[in-house]
Amino acid sequence: MDEERAWWKEAVVYQIYPRSFNDSDGDGVGDLQGIIDRLDYVASLGADVIWLNPVYDSPQADNGYDIRDYRAIYDEYGTMADWEELLAEVHDRDMRLIMDLVVNHTSTEHEWFQQSRRDEGGYRNYYFWREGDAEHPPNNWKSGFGGSAWASDEEAGMQYLHLFDETQADLDWDEAAVREDVYDLINWWLEKGIDGFRMDVINLISKPEGLPDGDPEQDWVGIEHFANGPRAQEYLAEMAAETYDNYDAMTVGECVGIDVETASDYVSADGPMDMVFHFEHMQVDMGDRWLSPAEWDLSDLKAVMSYWQTELDGWNSLYLTNHDQPRIVSRFADDDEYRVESGKLLGTLLFTLSGTPYVYQGQEIGMTNYPWSGLDELDDLQSIGKVEEAIEAGEIDGFEEVQDIVRARSRDNARTPMQWDDSENAGFTNGDPWLAVNPDYEDVNVAAAEADPDSVLHYYRELVDLRDAHAVFVYGDYELLLPDHEEVWAYRMELDEEAVLVALNFSDTETTVTLDPAAAVGDLLVSNYDEQHPNGTELTLRPYEARVYSLN
Ligand code: GLC
Repeated sequence: MDEERAWWKEAVVYQIYPRSFNDSDGDGVGDLQGIIDRLDYVASLGADVIWLNPVYDSPQADNGYDIRDYRAIYDEYGTMADWEELLAEVHDRDMRLIMDLVVNHTSTEHEWFQQSRRDEGGYRNYYFWREGDAEHPPNNWKSGFGGSAWASDEEAGMQYLHLFDETQADLDWDEAAVREDVYDLINWWLEKGIDGFRMDVINLISKPEGLPDGDPEQDWVGIEHFANGPRAQEYLAEMAAETYDNYDAMTVGECVGIDVETASDYVSADGPMDMVFHFEHMQVDMGDRWLSPAEWDLSDLKAVMSYWQTELDGWNSLYLTNHDQPRIVSRFADDDEYRVESGKLLGTLLFTLSGTPYVYQGQEIGMTNYPWSGLDELDDLQSIGKVEEAIEAGEIDGFEEVQDIVRARSRDNARTPMQWDDSENAGFTNGDPWLAVNPDYEDVNVAAAEADPDSVLHYYRELVDLRDAHAVFVYGDYELLLPDHEEVWAYRMELDEEAVLVALNFSDTETTVTLDPAAAVGDLLVSNYDEQHPNGTELTLRPYEARVYSLN
């Protein structure tokens, strides 16, 4: 691949969910000083960039994705001075900081919405106001969290659009003043010295004129209209030109319902973003509905990720989880007997593909899903909304019927507190944690992982070093071997004179594969099992074994 080199292509990104990372003041909620206290740990992983989930002033209906003031810090997280200290401390450690940019919608407590609902100050058209009521909403679009995408506002006497929670009102980007205000706030943060943005649901910003009804058979009704809408590309290009293109900033846009062709328009050399987060590999275990059983085949996961490796015209982001997704050992491998091998296996995948890898807090110690047993334990608006919607529709009688699915899928799996040690509350807080700590914290925690040379954590550090030392893992060309194999994922990466072979056993049984002679194995670069295997065109892989060979 003849890829132009850039710092953000070679970077490893570590994602911090501030609410659940580290609580310095005992109120049960993570905070900025708590993050500062753990920066040496983050740096020790070899992370180059930290992506911080929203820390702006917010009523926290959706844990900060409902912003009340873009230029202020949420008081439970600290002050602007704390944030400035954090930025300086990150930079002191030669890392960079990217912020979450949530501009598809604001909180209904935002000043713009307050004035808009009262038709004051020229703000009326900042949001989508239409005639309608609960029985007759303006169209049939659904919220991503279940239920109608329209809510009634008494003060305005109309309904407004919310593609997420009803406290998250969608901004109307066709209104020029909205775009100007958004560009102003982006530049304000860039001027403060940040290094880029992760852009929340950024491909939803353009809604088609007339807001036409969506296909009622879709799980998210209306998505074909509001994902990659008619002017999305134009507005993104304008935003880039007016803001971050004038800085040495990295951008990654979360894009719902995007395929490789549309993504290429966004991230090709002259496109408006550096990378996108697509969802195609996150769909492999999704049935037609959020509440369909979570079953999947390795060949499907391989097919999707391989396709993005070879077909995207532009730079890939690499992620297997984040704050909206379950824990990966539970989802894609084994979180029980082979938890450690599984954590390493999936890490090997993440760090040996071409693109920029994103590690979500706790992934590096192999954290697992939580055994949820009732709606009252959950905080995630999506899990609660989807279950309540099904109960209301008479599809299920109660939580127990879908317990397995919620356990497999809930966003709260990722949001339980970070597990630092085996003390009470896993060392996350001295107070009452806002969300339950996973009961496995006595075994699965950072302190235990630091003390164990065979831990997932130490293996992650090895992988980061390996990636730093071999450009083939960053910029290499990918070739899938054995595409239909349901247990083993094997591929070659090649760059200039260097070639490597990666072989990953995704099953709990020993599996032997015969590789194309052209892929005959060479020197072992890294593996999650200690003992060496005999090399040859026949390769026997133990349960969840990962092997990376140099072919030079
Ligand atoms: C994105 C965020 C998610 C949030 C939603 C609405 O998908 O990652 O956490 O709930 O947007 O802002």
